[in-house]
Order: sequence, then C-alpha cells, then structure tokens
Amino acid sequence: MKAVFKGVNAAEVKSEALVVFLFSDDKAALSGRPELDGLKKYISPRLKAGDFKGKHLGVLPLFPQISEGPDRIILVGLGEKKDCDGVCIRQASSKAAKALQDLGIEKAALLIPPVTNKVDAAETVAEAVLLGARLGMYSFDELKSNSEKKKKLQSLTLIKNGALSAAKAKAADSAAIVVAEAIQTARDLINRPANMVYPETLAAEAKSMSRGTKIKTTVLDIAAAKKRNMGAFLGVAQGSVHPGRVIIMEYKGAAAGKKPIALIGKAITFDSGGLSLKPNDGMMHMKTDMSGGAAVMAVMKAAAALELKVNLVGVIPAAENMPDGNAYRPGDVLKSMSGKTIEVMNTDAEGRLILADGLALAQQYKPARMIDLATLTGACVVALGAKCAGLMGNSDELINDLKKAGEKAGERAWPLPLYDDYFEGLKSEVADFKNVGPRYGGAIIGGLFLKQFVDAKIPWVHMDIAGPARAEKADADSPAGGTGFGVHLLITYLRSL
Ligand code: BES
Ligand code: ZN
Ligand code: ZN
Repeated sequence: MKAVFKGVNAAEVKSEALVVFLFSDDKAALSGRPELDGLKKYISPRLKAGDFKGKHLGVLPLFPQISEGPDRIILVGLGEKKDCDGVCIRQASSKAAKALQDLGIEKAALLIPPVTNKVDAAETVAEAVLLGARLGMYSFDELKSNSEKKKKLQSLTLIKNGALSAAKAKAADSAAIVVAEAIQTARDLINRPANMVYPETLAAEAKSMSRGTKIKTTVLDIAAAKKRNMGAFLGVAQGSVHPGRVIIMEYKGAAAGKKPIALIGKAITFDSGGLSLKPNDGMMHMKTDMSGGAAVMAVMKAAAALELKVNLVGVIPAAENMPDGNAYRPGDVLKSMSGKTIEVMNTDAEGRLILADGLALAQQYKPARMIDLATLTGACVVALGAKCAGLMGNSDELINDLKKAGEKAGERAWPLPLYDDYFEGLKSEVADFKNVGPRYGGAIIGGLFLKQFVDAKIPWVHMDIAGPARAEKADADSPAGGTGFGVHLLITYLRSL
C-alpha cells in the first residue's frame, strides 16, 4: 500500500472513501476538531442522532453526496481522547483498512487524527495509522489455490496538518513499512505448515532475507553442532528426518567493538512432544512452536532495514521434535554445550533443551544483554492468559524496559519471579539436573532451567510467548493464527536505545 501525504481540505479530496476518526467525547458541534470544519454538516447530524458514538473500533459509513469530494465518509471510533495512545490509533486504523477492503476500495483518503496526551508527536500518530492500515490487511492465503482475488487497498492519501512536516511524514511511513513487513514475515513463517517450514527451509529463509542487507547469516548443520558439543540441541533434533540447523544472524549497526545484544529464538518447527507424545488436541497447532525463532529473524531484518545503531546477534536453534526409532528417550542424559548434563524426564520439554545450547552459543559473542523468546510452557498461558507473555530473568531493569516497550507496542508482557528455591524440583539423581520439575509454577521452572545456562554477569530476560504467539480468534489488528508477537516489542525496545 502506497501512502501519499497532502495538506488539503478534507471535504475537497476526491476519493471513493474518506476515513475520519472520532473520539467518543467529540460532541455533535465538533468543537476542538477544526480540521473537520468542511465535513461538519455531514457528520454532526449523525452524532446528534446517536448513530455513531465514537466507541473504539466502531465504524459507520456515510454517503455525503458532495459533488467535488469523497463518495463516502467512513467514521471510525477512537474511544475517549484521554485514553487514546498509539495502540488505540493503530487498531482503529487497522479496522478502517479492513472496512475499506470489505467495500473493495483500492484508493482512499484518511484524515490523520490529532495528537493526544498519550502520543507524543504527530509523526507517532502517522506511523501508528500507517502501521495499523497495513497490519489490518494481512491475511495468510498463499496456500489457497482458488483464493478469491480480493481487491486490496493500493493507495492511501493521508491528509495532514502543519504539525507534520513532509520529511517526518515520509520517515513515519518508511518505519511503518519496515515494522509491518517484519510482523508479516513472522506471521507468514508461523502460519506456514510444518511440511513446508522445517529447519533446512527456515535456514534458507534466513539466508534469503539477509541477502542484500547488512546481516551476515551462518547456518550450523548437524556436523557443525556436534563440533560445538551442542548435545542438548542434538538430542532433540535426532528424532526427525529433517536434520536440525542452528541459524546465526549478525547485524552490525554500531562500532565493531560494541558488544552486541543477543536475541535467541526457539524454533521447534513442529512439536509432537517426541516419545512423550502430545494428545492430538495439544499437537494441533504445534507448527507455531517456532514463533520465537520467527520473531528473532523478523527483528533482525527490521533492524537492518531501519539501520538501527546497535550490534545484534540472533541465534535460532531449529529442530523438529518427533518420535522415531532414533528419537531421544525419557531417561536419556544429554550433555549440553555448557558441559552441564541434563536428565530427560519428558521429551515434550524440548524447548528449554535447544535454548540451553542456544544461550550458551549466544554467550560466545560476549553479548551486553540476552533476550530469549520461546513458546515454552502451557503453564505460562495458565498463569497469564493467552494475550500476555511472561518475563523472567536476572535483571529487573531489562525486564522493566521490555515490559514498557511492550506497552508501547501493544504487546503485553508481565514479570514472573525466578525463586531460586523452586529449582529444588529440578534436582536429578543421575545428572546435574532434570528438564522437568513439579507441575505447579511450570513457567517459572522453565525460566529457572534456562537460568542455569546464563552467565550471571550478563543481563538476561526470557520471554515465554506460548500464549500470545498464536491467536485463536482475530484481534483488532491480527487475524487468527500466528501473531508475530514480540517483533513489535523488540523493535520498539531497540529503537529506544
Ligand atoms: N511447545 C510447548 C509449549 C506450548 C504449549 C506452546 C501450548 C504453545 C501452546 C512445549 O514444548 C511443551 O510441550 N511444554 C510442556 C512442558 C512440560 C512437559 C514441562 C508443557 O507446557 O506442557
Ligand atoms: Zn514440547
Ligand atoms: Zn515446544
């Protein structure tokens, strides 16, 4: 979707549709909204009649019959002005784009909503509008042979006021394009089924998205992983006909000597549970068990496109967890890259095993900070619900920074405590520890397990995204399926540095 910015009178824009955002506290007189002066006579009667109340995500199309203006005015609600932040605007814009698409409109105009107390600048508003419009149009239909060729919104004319310079408008659009594409890349990878996305194809994707960018991608095959003693990773990978791969993506946007931020993403391309086989219902959506890895890949791509002034290393251990004659078994002991040994109590707790080696490998890059993303435990979904990630780690500061970035990006994440005494449950008779402990506090125990592989001097946060990585139903700006959770949060965090 192409964006064009114009500083004109909205009532005079010739287009199939003009989107107008209204707050629920906008009165029929529309005082305080001078930019709507030319449209008042069409909108005010509808407000007076109570046809439209400005409720967040409410939509009402009007047919104003202006000869030299828009054919339709589409009112979209923003809710109360005092509560309206970037996320509110993004979601409303997503709703607007969907409404336009449902009407088969390819070219539309949109009046950029005003700055509120919760959005700092006109360019932030513009970026939220442009990101929302693009996210709203996402659908995963590449595998439908006879997908009805839905008309897509091709061009959007944004009517701006003086507060937004042409340069800032352009920058807002470029950023929105990068973020939208990153989120869509992650969603595509997650939504593609496991017969198409497996470690080798995922590694090929990482390579192809790095081409022509400042990202250097290295892929470790099984022999290379063996050379590095990645026994925990190899144990999980050995049960599949699709050999495992460890994807390493490096981006250098800052001085060569500056320590990188390491992003580690769990990429189990399908989690059957292994020999500790999942029941069918639990297995159904396990193609999405690579959402952490997909998010890391997408963030790397976005960081390079935005030319962020940071150094990053992305480590994505990718494996398929399958039951097989050669699969690892309950009772096996794996020697991890760190040298620590792990007794496998349950082959379905595989994510922490590949991450143990992923974290150890990332540490070789002497990172300033480490953040891992993983669909790690059903217990985290029980604890925090499906639309919130769990944050655990050894640095309250980093946890807080990520929580804040999530609030700004509309991706909720909440801290869980890593109580050291809970680790008792992971003591093993035969190895250094077990991969599974008692059932209660399962998300925390997963976090404590990972902590054993992290150098205490490196600030580290584990994000358990088992809930929000996939949406059961469509949300305001994402259809059902892979959400790309974490991509926007991490980009927001990295942009804030
Ligand atoms: N991939 C799953 C976790 C998961 C569950 C992700 C639901 C998304 C939705 C993970 O590998 C797993 O199976 N975890 C086990 C751990 C248990 C055996 C300690 C779980 O949560 O039951
Ligand atoms: Zn599992
Ligand atoms: Zn898993």
